[in-house]
Amino acid sequence: MFLILQQKMRTIITLISVLFFVSCQNSEKPTYEKASKNQVKKLQSHPGKKLMETNCYVCHNPAGSHDNRIAPPMIAVKKHYKSSKVTKEEFKKGIQDWIINPSKENSKMPGAIKKFGIMPKTPFPKKTIDLIADYLFDNEIEKPEWFDAHEKEEHGQGKEKEMNDNQAGLIENLPYDERGLKYALSTKSELGKNLMGKIQKEGTLAALKFCNIKAHPLTDSMSIVHKATIKRVSDKPRNPKNVSNNIENGYINIFKEDARLLKESKPIVVESLDNVEVYYPIKTNNMCLQCHGKPGEEIKSSTLTQIHKLYPQDLAFGYSENQVRGIWSVTFNK
Ligand code: HEC
Ligand code: HEC
Repeated sequence: MFLILQQKMRTIITLISVLFFVSCQNSEKPTYEKASKNQVKKLQSHPGKKLMETNCYVCHNPAGSHDNRIAPPMIAVKKHYKSSKVTKEEFKKGIQDWIINPSKENSKMPGAIKKFGIMPKTPFPKKTIDLIADYLFDNEIEKPEWFDAHEKEEHGQGKEKEMNDNQAGLIENLPYDERGLKYALSTKSELGKNLMGKIQKEGTLAALKFCNIKAHPLTDSMSIVHKATIKRVSDKPRNPKNVSNNIENGYINIFKEDARLLKESKPIVVESLDNVEVYYPIKTNNMCLQCHGKPGEEIKSSTLTQIHKLYPQDLAFGYSENQVRGIWSVTFNK
């Protein structure tokens, strides 16, 4: 708590003295009145921040302990890409180059590749990456609690802290679209962490079995923590239990059109008297294709045999990168 306060204070001080490029969480503080309202609003809502949280934090999250990660936190990435000599344009280009071609030759973090395996290639829109890099370059971003200690003594035993329930209080104050998205992304992060780890350690086949047994209960336990219903549904499901209904199919089609136009999708929010429903697309990257791509090409025949055994009615294949594989369908009380 004290740390957050301290960070806030620092933010406020920077804002007053520089009045530039600062992103703050809380506009209610009277101190902000020194900046014009418009300015604060503009600074607060740098679009790159949200894009980063939605697209990159699944893996580059500042929360999560040092040992239990699937990728370095974003601040570590930033440190490797932004040395004192690098201009903003060079920084942005560096990030773009990586996204277009994540490869050993292109890496500034070979240690991270060794530790986590290479980042899955995902065709993010150029504009999205441009905004994220712009935000990253100019702003202080959250760092995990263990980060400074780790920096000091490379492999020091920094205090480790998982995302905890304290955050639930904050989540409930968010606007509905962000709240729904947070629920979905924390589930995704949990699923993604387990899946990527399993593939790296034991291979696709073991991961497949893990998905089969674990995907359902895992989604359920997250739902309980958040007192929300979090479903992952698809118009072409692998597990028939995950089939989307007619209403959800309508939203899937909207998201597919976004993907076709390489447009960043916004969550769809539907309010009723007591409930809020939030829908958000689940898109493919190249990691997904070993289980959801073309049979005989990306899906190896041993994997395919196993899929057919577990899911005789499987429809979830034939995808390529950046397609809408399904949606998060999140419902919670107002
Ligand atoms: C599915 C998980 C995942 C997602 C999502 C993801 N990354 Fe990564 N990323 C990784 C992993 C793992 C590494 C470390 C290994 C490596 O360097 O390839 C990494 C490394 C990086 C690096 C350093 C690469 C190097 O080796 O020099 C950059 C830059 C990066 N990510 C940017 C991004 C941005 C920007 C986003 C969001 C638009 C993003 N990543 C989303 C997993 C992910
Ligand atoms: C190791 C194999 C494997 C990988 C890799 C994989 N999946 Fe799946 N996926 C499965 C299995 C198995 C199921 C069925 C889970 C169940 O029984 O609920 C599934 C189910 C899903 C579902 C729920 C709807 C349905 O079809 O039943 C979505 C959505 C989904 N996967 C998206 C993805 C995305 C996006 C990626 C990449 C980021 C991915 N998957 C990577 C194996 C995989």
